Amino acid sequence: MPAIVILGAQWGDEGKGKATDLLATTDTIDYVVRTSGGHNAGHTIVIDGERFATHLLPTGILTPGCTAVIGNGVVVSVPQLFNELDGLRAKRPELGELVVSASAHVIAPYHQTIDKVTERFLGHNKIGTTGRGIGPTYGDKVNRLGIRVADLFDEKILTEKVEASLEVKNQLLAKVYNRRAVEVDQVVEELLAYVDRLRPLVADTSLLLNQALDRGETVLFEGAQATMLDVDHGTYPFVTSSSAVAGGVCTGAGIGPTRIDRVIGVIKAYTTRVGSGPFPTELFDEDGEKLWKIGGEVGVSTGRDRRCGWYDVVVARYAARVNGLTDLFLTKLDVLSSWEKVPVCVAYEIDGVRHDEMPMTQTDFHHAKPIYEHLDGWWEDISGCRTFDELPTNAQRYVQALEELSGTRIWGVGVGPGREQTLVVHD
Ligand code: IMP
Repeated sequence: MPAIVILGAQWGDEGKGKATDLLATTDTIDYVVRTSGGHNAGHTIVIDGERFATHLLPTGILTPGCTAVIGNGVVVSVPQLFNELDGLRAKRPELGELVVSASAHVIAPYHQTIDKVTERFLGHNKIGTTGRGIGPTYGDKVNRLGIRVADLFDEKILTEKVEASLEVKNQLLAKVYNRRAVEVDQVVEELLAYVDRLRPLVADTSLLLNQALDRGETVLFEGAQATMLDVDHGTYPFVTSSSAVAGGVCTGAGIGPTRIDRVIGVIKAYTTRVGSGPFPTELFDEDGEKLWKIGGEVGVSTGRDRRCGWYDVVVARYAARVNGLTDLFLTKLDVLSSWEKVPVCVAYEIDGVRHDEMPMTQTDFHHAKPIYEHLDGWWEDISGCRTFDELPTNAQRYVQALEELSGTRIWGVGVGPGREQTLVVHD
C-alpha cells in the first residue's frame, strides 16, 4: 500500500496518530509526510506508556528507520523545528531522519506579531487562532511576499525579500496597530540563526517522495488540522489558512492525485472543536462537561479547552465527499462508556426545513439545529478490548450505525490512548 493519506474528518484533534499506529502494525512505513499547516498542529503519541507531543514535526520522527518529511505546503518556524527536535531527542535518543522542503515557506517573527494583533483588533469576530503566525505566513505566500526555506541560504536575496515583505507591514504596524516597526536586519539575523543546522536537512522533497513511490515504498501523508478547518471546504472564515483536505496533499507534497491509494478519515466517536465558529452539536450541559472531562479534551498545542458535542453524521458524510475517503477510523470510543443513550446527529433542521447535507451558506450553517437519533449506550470499560467481537453489543451496534449513517466503512476503532489500544473492524 504505497501512498496513504490520513486526515481529520471533523475540526481537528481526532487522534490521527492512532490510525498511523494501526497501519504500522502491518506495514513498514518508510516516510511520514506533513503537507500543510505548521506548529499550530498537535499530535500526541504514547509509546510504552510515555507520552510524546509533536507540533511541526511529522510523527514518523519518533520511529528510527522512518524518514519524516516536511513538504512544500507546510509553513515552518525554524526555531520551533529545532526546539521540538531537541526536546524529543532528550527523551528518545534514537529518532527517525528529517528532511525539509526547500520550497516550504518560513514563519518570520513578524508573522506571529501580526497574527496576534489582528486577532485583538477583530474583537468578538476573532477566529481564535493559535497565534503561531500561520495565517499571515500563508497570506504572504499567496501575495508573493513570502520567504522560502531556500531563501535562507542566500543572505542578499533574503534581505531583499524581508525588506519587501516589511514595507507595507511596518506601515500597518505603526499606523494602524500602534506598534513599533520591525527592523529588517534583526529579522534577517533571527532567520539566519539556525541556517548551518538547517542546511543538511533541506532537499527537493517532491523528487524524494516520487522516487520513493516509484520504488514501491510506503509513504504516509499525515494530515494536520482537519476537513472542517480547511480554507476552502471548512467553516470559513473560522478555519485555518491551508488546504487540510486530501487535495492539499498533492499540492503540499508535489505528488499527483493518481499516486494516492487510500484516504483514511479519522473521526472521534463524538465531536470537538477549538477556537471560534459554528458547531451544531455543541453541548453546553453536563453531558458536554462529561465528554470534556472523560475525553481529556484540552488542546495539545495551545492548552485551550476543546468545545464538545455529539457525533455529527452530516459532517462525516461531507468529509467523505470532499476527501474521497476510502475508510474511517473511529477514535475515543472508550469515552462513551457511561451513557444510557448516546445521541447521534443524523441531519439538521434549518428554519423548519430538514437538511441531510451540509448547508450551502454560512448563514444556514449558523442556524443549523441537530436532529438526533438516540442509540443504546453501554457501561462496560472497553479500553482492554482488542477485537471487535470483544466490544459490548451496544458498542458494536454504535459503530455499525455510524458506519451505515456515515456511508464509509469503519476500518478501525481506538479504545484508549496507547498504541496497542486499537481494534480492526474491517481488514
Ligand atoms: P490558525 O491555524 O492558528 O490560524 O487557527 C485557525 C483555527 O484553526 C482556530 O480555530 C484554531 O483553533 C484551529 N486550529 C488550528 N490548528 C488546529 C489543530 O491542530 N487542531 C484543532 N484546531 C486547530
